[in-house]
Amino acid sequence: MENEKTINEFDKELICEYYSDMKRQGPGSPEMTIKALGFIDNLTQKSKIADIGCGTGGQTMVLAQNITGNIIGIDFFPEFIEILNNNANKLNLSEKVKGYAGLMENLSFQEEEFDLIWCEGAIYNIGFERGLNEWRKFLKKDGYIAVTEASWFTEKRPEEIENYWVHHYPGITTISSNVSTMQKTGYIPVATFTLPENCWIDNYFIPQISVQEKFLEKYTGNETVEEFIEGCRHEEKMYHDYKDYYGYVFYIGRKY
Ligand SMILES: C[S@@+](CC[C@H](N)C(=O)[O-])C[C@H]1O[C@@H](n2cnc3c(N)ncnc32)[C@H](O)[C@@H]1O
Repeated sequence: MENEKTINEFDKELICEYYSDMKRQGPGSPEMTIKALGFIDNLTQKSKIADIGCGTGGQTMVLAQNITGNIIGIDFFPEFIEILNNNANKLNLSEKVKGYAGLMENLSFQEEEFDLIWCEGAIYNIGFERGLNEWRKFLKKDGYIAVTEASWFTEKRPEEIENYWVHHYPGITTISSNVSTMQKTGYIPVATFTLPENCWIDNYFIPQISVQEKFLEKYTGNETVEEFIEGCRHEEKMYHDYKDYYGYVFYIGRKY
């Protein structure tokens, strides 16, 4: 038992170290963040935005540079939050952006505190429906939610990719099913669009190559590290082979 705990702790540290060096921890791009922001009306200097599962703040800085309100970033890893707050400082955005370590399933926000809730590549940690349901109370009436979620593009998929996703994220479903969930959980669906390949390849897989080489050298012979990197490389291969069947999709909705 003690051993298991130690391995888990090591896994967490490992994941944190691996992704800390990257601008983003999931697929996305500044262009797509700005495109999604284009569907949000009525933001003012007084607007409050929550960026949940913000990571080191790749999309948070883009938001801050393109809106007038204030942003609170929340992430599970304090190390990511430290990087986010340092970056905000460097970019003279620390008045607008404040990061805090916290759990998306236990947010201590006020009811109706926010004009906009943002979440790129992270709602899967709580589940799409649960996230939309539980976070709705933190939005003002007519407030917006914008999230990205891995989604099936087609009704049927080859067995290999079906099995891969069912193993890694059984909650994955089609775009129409997610839009219906959005409506059912109290939002008017405003827009959905798929993220282009460069969000995965240029901004997510390619930056990992040098980190993987560095890791394999630093942790030579460490089975946990080797398995972890094998998993990351397999994820890339699956995307390469089956990107016609799935990808990340932006879902934007307005609370009713
Ligand atoms: C795939 S990354 C996306 C990060 C960032 N939004 C991006 O797109 O670059 C998912 C993020 O969710 C965070 N996370 C995972 N579980 C969480 C939880 N229960 N509460 C808050 N954040 C969590 C991770 O630490 C990680 O930073």
